[in-house]
Amino acid sequence: MKVVDLRSDTVTHPTPAMREAMYHAEVGDDVFGEDPTVNRLERTAAERMGKEAALFVASGTMGNLVSLLAHCGRGDEVILGDHSHTFLFEQGGMAALGGITPRPNPNQPDGTLRLEDVVGAIRGDDVHFPRTRLVCLENTHNVCNGMPLTAAYTAEIARLAHAHGLRVHLDGARVFNAAAALGVDVRELVREVDSLSFCLSKGLCAPVGSLVCGSAGFIAGARRARKVVGGGMRQAGILAAAGIVALEQMAGRLAEDHAHAKRLAEGLAHIPGIKVAPVATNILYFRLTEEVSQTPEEVVDGLAERGIRLLGREGGRFRAVTHYWISDEDVERTIVAMHELIS
Ligand SMILES: Cc1ncc(COP(=O)(O)O)c(C=O)c1O
Repeated sequence: MKVVDLRSDTVTHPTPAMREAMYHAEVGDDVFGEDPTVNRLERTAAERMGKEAALFVASGTMGNLVSLLAHCGRGDEVILGDHSHTFLFEQGGMAALGGITPRPNPNQPDGTLRLEDVVGAIRGDDVHFPRTRLVCLENTHNVCNGMPLTAAYTAEIARLAHAHGLRVHLDGARVFNAAAALGVDVRELVREVDSLSFCLSKGLCAPVGSLVCGSAGFIAGARRARKVVGGGMRQAGILAAAGIVALEQMAGRLAEDHAHAKRLAEGLAHIPGIKVAPVATNILYFRLTEEVSQTPEEVVDGLAERGIRLLGREGGRFRAVTHYWISDEDVERTIVAMHELIS
């Protein structure tokens, strides 16, 4: 029986085309700048995002960390969402390793930060205060129902930040999902930000890696930061080869995953006892209502017995994430299994 793994899009295995490209990849020492495949991936990513340069890193967490280290010095402060991945799930790396203070602002249900909150969080010039340096956004917003941020909103935040002498970094781990959901070129969504990171190893199916993009000067700083956190990866062209396939073949097909998430949402919404959150991309959250006798753990275990895996999160919230390896049939199987379990 096929296991339907909806826990995350990070569970995606590389496609046959990726394995083939990895096998044939030309490699060199990337710390010397001599890996032709890494160099090609970085050029392709920069061009795709409309930025001057790009840097291949091991993960989304490393991409955000080296970006923050390149933008900020010790004692600087970063405004970011209180539900953002960087604030919640990256071990406070900015503070632990960079001496940078996070200044969390309330994320709205659609993943945005209120402009007035951001303005209110910017520090004045006072000997008591850290210096505000950066605003971070997340697109799509993982915890906020996978919602995409529009180009207009991102531009508004950037205008505001730049007017106060701040920079803007985008955690675009799933920015191609945002572009697919909004029906725009990904460049539109990142045009006004100073830097962004995006992941190859989520919905794009590559086995490893993320890219950081920005100006040539910024990327030089991020490259130094990558080295000090141990991210100089030598013959990384093996991995970059899969990343090139991800950009060329996988970034354009994400609407299929979104259609699967919508179908799953519709199917679950018809089951009494399930309350489904709004869904716009490949991330679907739902919870059980009080009339359901099973605990969330029992539901997760019952699904696992039927070969279906999803995440039960704190507060009785469930998360299901669709991706390349989830088919129409898998979605229907999940709906039927849930029906059996809780009715
Ligand atoms: C929005 C967001 N940013 C960053 C990351 C971190 O990526 P990685 O797991 O590659 O470190 C994740 C991972 O799920 C994420 O959802």
